[in-house]
Amino acid sequence: MDSQFVRTGPLMELASYPQWLQEIVAACSESRRTVVEHEIFHQMHLGMLPPAAMKRFLTSFWPVIEQFPQYMALNLLKVQYQLGAGHAMARKYLIRNIRVEQNHVEYWIDWSQAHGLSRDDLLFGWRSSNADALSHWCWHTCERDPLPVAMAATNYAIEGTTGEWAALVCNSSLYERGFPENIRKQAMKWLRVHAHYDDTHPWEALEIVATLIGHRPQRRDVAIIESAIVKSYEYMRTAFDDCLAAAATSHMPHKKLGRLEAAPICVSS
Ligand SMILES: [Fe+2]
Repeated sequence: MDSQFVRTGPLMELASYPQWLQEIVAACSESRRTVVEHEIFHQMHLGMLPPAAMKRFLTSFWPVIEQFPQYMALNLLKVQYQLGAGHAMARKYLIRNIRVEQNHVEYWIDWSQAHGLSRDDLLFGWRSSNADALSHWCWHTCERDPLPVAMAATNYAIEGTTGEWAALVCNSSLYERGFPENIRKQAMKWLRVHAHYDDTHPWEALEIVATLIGHRPQRRDVAIIESAIVKSYEYMRTAFDDCLAAAATSHMPHKKLGRLEAAPICVSS
């Protein structure tokens, strides 16, 4: 078999990808499940997530939302057109999707404001170490790790799971109806644009990883790609665990957020 990978099957079917990549996806599936089926999204979906946990979630995930185009820009710096089809695909994908992300930061701010958070709360509010670890990890892998590793960790693992949990939250109107009607559309915009079980972006990222590495990867390539995907899932899960724990504790070292904990809420059960 030629060691070069050229996809011939459907983009969104795992069987279209090299055996080694299928095995990675299978090995990471349990870890992925802990993210997309996290309790926080079940409670959010039902409109029953306590306000303290909701606010903590919005502030915790904010750095990843804000920095996501920058992660892609760091990967774009690694692209060398002359290195073949995988690099050409990555170049096109990254340039196109940095542009797509342009408005998403503003949508996240709108969502947060609908829950009583200000811009300053997002920018300067307290986050748990686990929440910081997630964005630090994304920055680190995109700055230092090889292109297929960093794209697997972010464009495949983070974007892929985000599309799924956003779809879960949006697949009934329970959460949405917690917002007053006049702000509902604006509040739900970020979720709506990300809520796609059938989003092609994570699959395109997987195709780029497969094309960059080919059919005959070195053992260490397989090991670091698998571990990068699992790390993204684990950092997300622990950050989300902390958000749920926020509902049960009053540990808020930041004075301003302490005030916000007592702010009126927009979402009811
Ligand atoms: Fe986005």
